[in-house]
Amino acid sequence: MLKYVDRRGTNCSKWDALEAMYGDKDLLAMWVADMDFEIAEPIRNAVRNYVDNVPWGYYNPGPGYKQAFIDWEKKYHGYEVKPEWICFSNGIVSAFYWVTCMAAKPGEAVILLAPIYYPMMNGVNFNGRKLVLCDMIHEGNTYRVDYEKFEKQIVENDVKLFIMSSPHNPVGKIWTKEELKTLMDICRRHNVLVVSDEIHQDFEWNGHVHTPTATVGDYDDMLITMCAVSKTFNLASCQNSFIIIPDEKLREQYLTFARNVHGTDGNGFGYVAVEAACREGRPWFEEVKKQIWENYCYVRDTFAKELPDVTVADLQGTYLLWLDFGKYFKTQEEIKEFMQGKCKLAFDYGNWFGRGGDDYCEFVRMNLATSLENVKEACDRMIKNLK
Ligand SMILES: Cc1ncc(COP(=O)(O)O)c(C=O)c1O
Repeated sequence: MLKYVDRRGTNCSKWDALEAMYGDKDLLAMWVADMDFEIAEPIRNAVRNYVDNVPWGYYNPGPGYKQAFIDWEKKYHGYEVKPEWICFSNGIVSAFYWVTCMAAKPGEAVILLAPIYYPMMNGVNFNGRKLVLCDMIHEGNTYRVDYEKFEKQIVENDVKLFIMSSPHNPVGKIWTKEELKTLMDICRRHNVLVVSDEIHQDFEWNGHVHTPTATVGDYDDMLITMCAVSKTFNLASCQNSFIIIPDEKLREQYLTFARNVHGTDGNGFGYVAVEAACREGRPWFEEVKKQIWENYCYVRDTFAKELPDVTVADLQGTYLLWLDFGKYFKTQEEIKEFMQGKCKLAFDYGNWFGRGGDDYCEFVRMNLATSLENVKEACDRMIKNLK
């Protein structure tokens, strides 16, 4: 049975960093992409066994660790990964920072489809690379890419790297095979290396099926897939992810970079947790999926009935819901005053996913991986105050 956990006072970012982030600790936290559910029992048992019975010295994962993930990928995504393709990173954000530095020299360009998960932009900006944002086209309650514009921006900026979010954070889109192929073919034409960040791969909704980019064609020499089960099982603090690089030359390039920044090994707790998750965690995950879908339906149906001028995104993937308040708010100041000041809610603001200022300011991103009570409370506050 899925159990909601009141995480206040546990040093978690979502609830305990509200004061630092928003200047108000009494907000209802609907931001940070992690879950408010108790960790799956088999994972807790495996880590407990490690904690109680084994000294915590340097850890060298056995073949079972990679195999557990390989089995997961094959069973749930039809992607056959070979053990030697898998490199380690202590989190996907670290890895795309490294690949940004590896693929583009200072001043060279990296392209992202906006709105986009902001650490991808940080990785480019903080490392002195040139950020090129290709805004997607917002149509109804979903998004699509203007391929002509994407290609033009690549050519004009001599882009070296494209980092994609698949499924897409924050808009909750699952890319179709055709879309992935079109993007890959454009990158192929212009020698652009592609990172496909598939950390949200297991959250598939309403008949939409996630396709690993690596399976849509022969792109091995130009593709790095970044994957983890840290979203699926709420293991972000284990800092354990899989960087899949089939091409030997590209892999050696990545490993050289990772070795040079001493980033090739993780901690024992992470390895133990991830292996147990892949082997025995699925029933727990099925429960989680039910809860998230129920939460989504509640938001969608309630806004449709009470405030149809708010556009609720079509949730195809992820557990992050993109809400469009464009009919009500035109500036970042207005939406912030409403969400924080009036409703006492903490969301990821839309403008975090763009150029700042008023870019995407009409949106907020709501984290659905919590109790239905929290979701209801958040909706009630918005509806009451907007009405
Ligand atoms: C698209 C995407 N990539 C990466 C991450 C974080 O990855 P990690 O915790 O492994 O650094 C997140 C977390 O929200 C995410 O949404």
